Amino acid sequence: MIASARVAVDSELTLVPRHPSDAPELFALVERHRTVLREWLTWIDATLTVGDARRYAQFAEAQFESRVAFDYLVRAGGRLVGAIGLHGIEWAGQSAQIGYWLSPEAQGRGIATRAARALVSHAFAKLDLHRLEIRCVVENTRSRAVAERLAFQFEGTLTEAYLLHGAFRDIALYAMTVTRWRRH
Ligand SMILES: CC(C)(COP(=O)(O)OP(=O)(O)OC[C@H]1O[C@@H](n2cnc3c(N)ncnc32)[C@H](O)[C@@H]1OP(=O)(O)O)[C@@H](O)C(=O)NCCC(=O)NCCS
Repeated sequence: MIASARVAVDSELTLVPRHPSDAPELFALVERHRTVLREWLTWIDATLTVGDARRYAQFAEAQFESRVAFDYLVRAGGRLVGAIGLHGIEWAGQSAQIGYWLSPEAQGRGIATRAARALVSHAFAKLDLHRLEIRCVVENTRSRAVAERLAFQFEGTLTEAYLLHGAFRDIALYAMTVTRWRRH
């Protein structure tokens, strides 16, 4: 991993590209908070061993190198507290989606908002993307609040657009363009 691939957020937080060597630490966090995290995250049920976490990290690392997706672990003073990333990247149309999650004990301190703000700036300034979306299940109020704190615009509801634990759920679609971001 090249050091420049990291994104500095502030004096506490850094976004570090996910690496297979993170798998034991990540898996331990998932094991500790499995019940809470699975409410909104489908991949928790597919992460049953350290090997599952390592295989996903290898996949994410390959995606990062080929610029298909950029998946980062969020570290607070070095400690793993969650993850954030850009996925669904359309280089031709210069758009992407942002996803994030935090360990329950790291919530309530602005970490997701600060990490997402840094990633948005990075995506617009360094990756030359033009439009970023945040998509979350309509009832996921904490995730919606992150989008709203960053002044993403609510563009509407995508009906039954996300399969979560066997049920199709409506998605709230938020977006930010580089034009609006620079005006802010
Ligand atoms: C979505 C998720 C990351 C949001 O976490 P969060 O802790 O609510 O969001 P933040 O880290 O931005 O923290 C915001 C809180 O910190 C407070 N805060 C403190 N300092 C802050 C700062 N500098 N900036 C912003 N908020 C700050 C806010 O007032 C807010 O407080 P509240 O919890 O009383 O409303 C988290 O709920 C999660 O991981 N959920 C499960 C996974 C998930 O749903 N992912 C999204 C799928 S679309």
